[in-house]
Amino acid sequence: MDRHSQQLITLYEISKLLGASLDLNKTLKGAMKALSDFLDMQRGTVALVQGDEIVLKAAHGLTIEELQLGRYKLGEGIIGQVAKSGYPIVLPNIGEEPVFLNRTGARRDINKDNIAFLCVPIMFKREVLGVLSVDRLFADARVSFDTDLRLLKIIASLLAQHIKLSLQVEKEVQELIAERDTLKTELRGKYRIENIIGKSPLMQEVFESVHRVAGSRATVLITGESGTGKELIAKAVHYMSQRARQPFIKLNCAAIPEGLLEAELFGHEKGAFTGASSLRRGRFELANKGTIFLDEIGDLSLSLQPKILRVIQEREFERIGSEKTIKVDVRVIAATAKDLVRLVSDGSFREDLYYRLNVVPMFLPPLRQRMEDMDELIAFFLNKYNKENSKTVEISAEAIYSMTEYWWPGNVRELENTIERLVIMSPGRVVLLRDLPLNIRNVDGEPPEHRITPLDQAEKEGIVEALKTTDWVLAKAAKLLGITPRQIGYKVKKYGIGRGVS
Ligand SMILES: Nc1ncnc2c1ncn2[C@@H]1O[C@H](COP(=O)(O)OP(=O)(O)OP(=O)(O)O)[C@@H](O)[C@H]1O
Ligand SMILES: [Mg+2]
Repeated sequence: MDRHSQQLITLYEISKLLGASLDLNKTLKGAMKALSDFLDMQRGTVALVQGDEIVLKAAHGLTIEELQLGRYKLGEGIIGQVAKSGYPIVLPNIGEEPVFLNRTGARRDINKDNIAFLCVPIMFKREVLGVLSVDRLFADARVSFDTDLRLLKIIASLLAQHIKLSLQVEKEVQELIAERDTLKTELRGKYRIENIIGKSPLMQEVFESVHRVAGSRATVLITGESGTGKELIAKAVHYMSQRARQPFIKLNCAAIPEGLLEAELFGHEKGAFTGASSLRRGRFELANKGTIFLDEIGDLSLSLQPKILRVIQEREFERIGSEKTIKVDVRVIAATAKDLVRLVSDGSFREDLYYRLNVVPMFLPPLRQRMEDMDELIAFFLNKYNKENSKTVEISAEAIYSMTEYWWPGNVRELENTIERLVIMSPGRVVLLRDLPLNIRNVDGEPPEHRITPLDQAEKEGIVEALKTTDWVLAKAAKLLGITPRQIGYKVKKYGIGRGVS
């Protein structure tokens, strides 16, 4: 093969390599190999600029250890000088050059060999990306260094394009990875509570309050529709507090007949009334040092309200049939699905008690207002009931979609029960649309009118306002409201918002 064909073939091989992959290490190594395969190159290196250093990235004729030693300051040694100046350097005999550092130690017999050394910058526009350096390309002493140099410059410019592109891509990939990671934490939600799903902004607000108040003894009032997780959150507050090892005592104010409630709450002495055959401690006493959870507080009778008010205020009470005052250290958490404000204005709930309870209010949003949590809730319950029943049921995307369209009046509890039933009843491994209960499958997407609460009305008006401002561009309106386009789409459907509707 003549010299000309040798050159062409080398260039062709290298350009093929560069086109095949963006893996910089691979292509640089390949280019080195092509130079040694098709030309007479014994040793060659590619070094890349990294900050104020230039670092060997690929080499032929060097061991890995030697390669790892190749790291120069800009301006240091020949490679460093080329990197700094952007001009090539040719040394006909490196043994005679004091500037040759032989940093890698690859040339031990440096003084015996009359080795030439050619070093060209790898430039993109005016930026030095790195340095390509080789021993002679052509063994034939009659070939001038100029020929070597010209070929080397062409190769360097081919490499330059490729290196620039790879670095750019690598940078973009790094940025994407960083973005993915932040998105992931955002998706998971900043605040986490074990076994409670809630990455949606509304639940994140609740989680934040839980984290914030768990450490104090402040009274918490949890409101929200039935099945939204009030009890779950009450327990979270207790178990995340210093009282976690002390009792969590629950009392359902609606479930106990009024006549018995007082004895339940405060206990009684032996013989306090007919049938009181022994001393009995009430829930407040049992909860000492821990937490008392007064569930369904909205159902507490007017006659008992002052008594509860006193315990909350003074942390003291008497057992029925006793004069002795008992002091307790309890944290009070109350919950109700009822609208206490309305009960207060109706006169069926004492205003002073309401304010005593409402020190830290927490509102659990209905499931339909946090559809972002749907996928995770479904996965959570599916996993739970699959485990419980030793099954591996999955739910088809179609069925899941239909579930996100449903109104879920029973909220998370209804969802949980639905999934439990699906896991148990599912004939196949995958739950299809037709396996869903009729009411969930056949939603028209529009909630019954009477379900629009004043809160919903305010939300609806806010959305209409945002849509008007953004000329009905959903994505823009969503951004304005700080919600996702999917959420706004859901709400638009929920409230039946359309142009001309206000
Ligand atoms: N965010 C959630 N993540 C996981 N499970 C939840 C979540 N919210 C509720 N649940 C589950 O849903 C069911 C109902 O929750 P919980 O009993 O706390 O609701 P509630 O608001 O007290 O309802 P009710 O007003 O009917 O008493 C429970 O089994 C609970 O574990
Ligand atoms: Mg409850």
